[in-house]
Amino acid sequence: MKVLVVGGGGREHALVWKIAQSPLVDKIFCAPGNPGTAQLAENVQIAVDDLQGLLEFAKRENIGLTVVGPELPLSLGLVDLFEEHGLKAFGARKKAALIEASKAFSKDLMQKYQVPTAAYGVFTEVDAAVSFIDQTGIPIVVKADGLAAGKGVIIAQSREEAVAAVVDMLSGNAFGAAGSRVVIEEFLTGEEASFLAFTDGTRIIPLASAQDHKAVFDGDLGPNTGGMGAYSPAPVVTPAIHEKAMAEVMRRTVDGMAAEGRPYRGVLYAGLMIDGDSVKTLEFNARFGDPECQPLLMRMKSDIVPILMAVAQGSLEGVEIEWHDKAAVCVVLAAEGYPGDYRKGDRISGLEQAAELDQLVVFHAGTKGAQEGVVTSGGRVLGVTALGASVQEAIDRAYQGVALVSWPGMHYRRDIGAKAINR
Ligand code: AMP
Ligand code: GLY
Repeated sequence: MKVLVVGGGGREHALVWKIAQSPLVDKIFCAPGNPGTAQLAENVQIAVDDLQGLLEFAKRENIGLTVVGPELPLSLGLVDLFEEHGLKAFGARKKAALIEASKAFSKDLMQKYQVPTAAYGVFTEVDAAVSFIDQTGIPIVVKADGLAAGKGVIIAQSREEAVAAVVDMLSGNAFGAAGSRVVIEEFLTGEEASFLAFTDGTRIIPLASAQDHKAVFDGDLGPNTGGMGAYSPAPVVTPAIHEKAMAEVMRRTVDGMAAEGRPYRGVLYAGLMIDGDSVKTLEFNARFGDPECQPLLMRMKSDIVPILMAVAQGSLEGVEIEWHDKAAVCVVLAAEGYPGDYRKGDRISGLEQAAELDQLVVFHAGTKGAQEGVVTSGGRVLGVTALGASVQEAIDRAYQGVALVSWPGMHYRRDIGAKAINR
């Protein structure tokens, strides 16, 4: 079978890497891919939002399964379009992807179906938003309703900051149309975890637990990023927390989406805030997390292709997932300036040396092929991901890999996985 992976980041390199191990697959294409996916797949220069281009390509190449990585093509209806043409595609349909594409929708859904989450309000007018901020007090969290590449969330420490964020978003200056509605919510404390599950709209099969590191600097300091590193398993997700997340978050959400006429098929990602035995949902994503996908897929023992196919065909009946007993840690290497404006075009050295390390994969994210070799082309450039018998061993191995790679201005967190050790 031929498989098409849509996307070009670290998550898609990990998907290609895992899919390439399946005996069911003869050939993989990745659109648009990156120099990492090019080692295992044929990259095709079609943008993720070029739905017609992707459809024509998939028909022409007789693609047996298309796997959609990022949220944008999901929210534009790529899976719906493929299904209308009789093609198998893994990912949430447009009506289901709204769970990520609109935070107002997702909060209202959680409220309606008793999925535990922070108290909130949805606003389109500054005055009403300001009254809500005054009633709630600070710190308070202001979120753009629509897709904002992980940057639409402001944790305001003062009234002025909260009001400024609201004005910026509602005026359209900050995130364009994505900010024309805002969600304002209570600030939650605790430890975050990423809880992912495959679902066919009825059955729910959880993936292993994982934790992301959103802030740019060590100790969770500095502005939020798309994720500076991740590890799996995450000990904060104890068996009791797992049960609770399955019953109160996943089950209620999947059933709620079905009841709303938006049956959810694909991978559902809940960002959880865990505090003692309390589990609250910060957000939903309609896709694999990036970088969580990298350590999760390195730990996955089962062939992923029958699982993705079962979801695409609408039934997970009989599907089980086996995991390696090992831990996995992914350290993201970022370009100077990220998560703000960042440098591009620097030659990356050490990739060949790192590739020789056992139980370690350097996943490409923001890289590009150039005459002088592989150069940086995005904010998050690489995800150095390693396995280990323990989280500590995986951390040590990942940082051994990190030490081999460099370019001018490269930066990364030195404490990925530390929370797991401290537990
Ligand atoms: P979101 O995209 O909604 O998950 O928000 C991005 C990040 O902002 C989360 O991973 C948290 O670190 C933080 N965050 C979002 N909502 C809250 C909240 N209600 N309380 C505390 N932190 C939050
Ligand atoms: N790592 C967070 C995300 O994928 O949204």
